[in-house]
Amino acid sequence: MLLGVAGWPVGHSRSPAMHNAALAHLGLAGWRYVFLPVPPELFTETVRALPAAGFQGINVTVPHKEAALALADHATDTARAIGAANTLSFDRVTHAIHADNTDAIGLLEALPPGHEPGGRTSLVLGAGGAARAVVHALLSAGAADVAVWNRTPARAERLVADLGGGRVVDAPVRAEIIVNATSVGMGPFKATPITADTVATGSCVVDMAYSAGGTALLELARSRGAVGVDGLEVLVAQGAASLERWTGRPAPRDVMQMAARATEPP
Ligand code: ATR
Repeated sequence: MLLGVAGWPVGHSRSPAMHNAALAHLGLAGWRYVFLPVPPELFTETVRALPAAGFQGINVTVPHKEAALALADHATDTARAIGAANTLSFDRVTHAIHADNTDAIGLLEALPPGHEPGGRTSLVLGAGGAARAVVHALLSAGAADVAVWNRTPARAERLVADLGGGRVVDAPVRAEIIVNATSVGMGPFKATPITADTVATGSCVVDMAYSAGGTALLELARSRGAVGVDGLEVLVAQGAASLERWTGRPAPRDVMQMAARATEPP
């Protein structure tokens, strides 16, 4: 049985290492999770060919998440509300394609105990696909306030209108939960999307951007006495939720966590 991750590019993804470690741990011999580098113009026809080629499902990453929802035969309410899918499952008999989005549940699972969104204030940085899943998650978990800041305000206005909640702010505001869903901080460049005075002691800062050795935002958060959660925690949680949908088995999160971290470049 085959699984995989479709993206363009996708060679940097830690998902294959993480999922293959989980499949081995579960004793699912014969299952394999592969890289699927697919350019946008070939995405739909490639995915439509996967069920007959022995695939049970795939993860979908940048830039294909919206196209993945569009091509699916069925979709969960969560995927439709977010407007994007990161998980596709294939019916083995009919080859029908089912779309889901585990990014939202992944974010909620990655939040440490004592920082659940219910009744808490939050700030989301960004207004792309990642931010849409985060805002959906925070709203559905009952956050008291979901402030959305984006470099391009019109995109934030569209996000809030589409998701039917949250409010646009013209500058980052203090909040009990801050989630960076911009690409600022990714890669080798040390940059933060917010300044230190936005981070309150005791708050929780999630950085969806990931950088080996830690991002500048997480360093800043910890120096301010906030709890930091890195992007790999969210990656593991969304991957675990996807794996459970495909295999029907509880995902070994510790094994996945270790495999994802072990593939860090030196
Ligand atoms: P994804 O699907 O991963 O969310 P995306 O749709 O390309 O990716 O969104 C990237 C986000 O990072 C956007 O919110 C983008 O802001 P704009 O909408 O203004 O483009 C944000 N972003 C990227 N580079 C940024 C920068 N240098 N400063 C601030 N925000 C940035």
